[in-house]
Amino acid sequence: MAPSLTFPEGFLWGVSTSAFQIEGALRADGRGPSIWDRFTAEPGRIRDGHTADVACDSYRRVDEDVALLAGLGVSAYRFSIAWPRVQPAGHGPVNPAGLDHYDRLVDALAAHGIEAVPTLYHWDLPQELEDRGGWLDRDTAYRFGEYAYIVAERLGDRVRRWITVNEPFVHMAYGYALGLHAPGRTLLLDALPTAHHQLLGHGLAAMSVRGRGAREVLIANNHTPVSAAGPEDAAAARAYDALHNRLFTDPLLLREYPDLSAYGIAEMPGVRDGDLAVIGTPPDAIGVNYYMPTRVRAATGPLPFELVEAHTGPTTAFGWPVAPEALGALLDGMRERYGPLLPPLYITENGCSYPDEPGPDGTVADADRIAYLSRHIAALAEAAGRGADVRGYFVWSLLDNFEWAEGYHQRFGLVRVEPDGTRTPKASYGWYRDLIAAQRARAEQW
Ligand code: FCB
Repeated sequence: MAPSLTFPEGFLWGVSTSAFQIEGALRADGRGPSIWDRFTAEPGRIRDGHTADVACDSYRRVDEDVALLAGLGVSAYRFSIAWPRVQPAGHGPVNPAGLDHYDRLVDALAAHGIEAVPTLYHWDLPQELEDRGGWLDRDTAYRFGEYAYIVAERLGDRVRRWITVNEPFVHMAYGYALGLHAPGRTLLLDALPTAHHQLLGHGLAAMSVRGRGAREVLIANNHTPVSAAGPEDAAAARAYDALHNRLFTDPLLLREYPDLSAYGIAEMPGVRDGDLAVIGTPPDAIGVNYYMPTRVRAATGPLPFELVEAHTGPTTAFGWPVAPEALGALLDGMRERYGPLLPPLYITENGCSYPDEPGPDGTVADADRIAYLSRHIAALAEAAGRGADVRGYFVWSLLDNFEWAEGYHQRFGLVRVEPDGTRTPKASYGWYRDLIAAQRARAEQW
C-alpha cells in the first residue's frame, strides 16, 4: 500500500452495485417487468443466453451482502433501487413491498454504520413506460421525478446522499442508438432525445429528493478522456468529447448543451424553455464513473469520428485499456473546463473484469484486480494533490454479477459468486479492507 496516499477527512470508501445486476427475484413481491427482463428474454441478445432471473440472489440475501460490506469496513454502499419494484408500471400505483425491501436494506446498513447511497435509476425502466416511448418520450422524465418523490418520502429520513441517474450516455448509446443493451433500439442519432429526457429526469428527481431532506444530490456520468489518433484527427476527438462527456456535464454546470451541430453531429432536439434551468440547478457533487480513455480518428460516415483500438498496454478481460493516468488527466481536464463551477467529485464506479478462478485451496488470488485498483487509487490521490476536490471512491463491484450483454462472463467483483449464490471473498476484498482500515487509522491520527 502506498503510504503517501492522502485523502480529505470524511472521504467515503465504498463499493457499487445495481439492482438488475444482483437482485434476481424478478417476479417476487409484486415487481413489474422492466426493459431488461424483456431484452434478456430475446434470443441472441445476451452472451450464451444468460439471464438475471437469479443473478446474485441479493434480493433474498440482504443479510449476507450487508455482512460482506461490514467486513470490508466501507463507509458507504452505492446500490440502486429498482423502479419496477416500487412502481411496477412506472406510473400510478405504488407497490409497498418494493419500498419495504429498500427500507430494510437501509436500516441493515445503518446498523453497521454504513451510509446508504442509492441510485434511483440504473437502466431498469418499467416496461410499460418503454411501451409508451421510454426515454424518447418527455413524459418519462416527469414519471421519474414522481417516482423519486415516492422513494424519498419513504427513505428520505435516513438517506442523505442520492444519485439520480446512472450513465445516461451509455443508456442512450447502447440502449437506444446501437441496440446492444435494453431496450435494444437502433436509432443512431435519433436517440439524442433520450439524453435530454434523462437529464431533465435528473433535474426533476433532484427537486423531489431535495424536498425530502437530501443533503447531496448527484448524477453518475460515464466519463472518458478522449485523444486523437493523429494530428489530423483533432476535430474528431473534440466531436466525440462533446457527445460522450460534455453533452452530459455542460448542461449541469453551464446550463447549455455543446453545439453538436457545429461538430457535424446534430442539433439537440426537444429542449423547451426552462428545461436547462431544471437540469442546471447546481448539483451538490458529480459522480464520475471511470473505466478507460478513448481514442478516435476522423471518419466520413454519419458521425465525424470512429473509435480506434490503439492501446498497447495491458487490458482487462473486457479488452478495456488499463490507464490509471487517464483518470488523473480526466479530473484535471474537468477542473480546467469548469473552473469554480465544478462541484466536488465522487468516483462512483471504477473497477475491472478478470477471469479469476479459485485455486486448489478455494481462494481467489486476483492480483491483477489489486494492481488495477491500487494504481487507480494512487492516480486519484495524485489528482487530489494537484487540487481535485474528490470526496469518495466506489469500487465496481462488491460482487461478480450480471454484466448486461456479457451475462456472467465478466467478473468485476471483490467477491466471487457461484451459480448457487455462494459468496467467496477474493484476495482483492482483503486488500481493499486493509486499505480502508489504514486510511481510516491515518485520518484518526490527524
Ligand atoms: C458501467 C455500468 C455498470 C457496470 C460497469 C462495468 O458502465 O454502470 O452497471 O456494468 O459498467
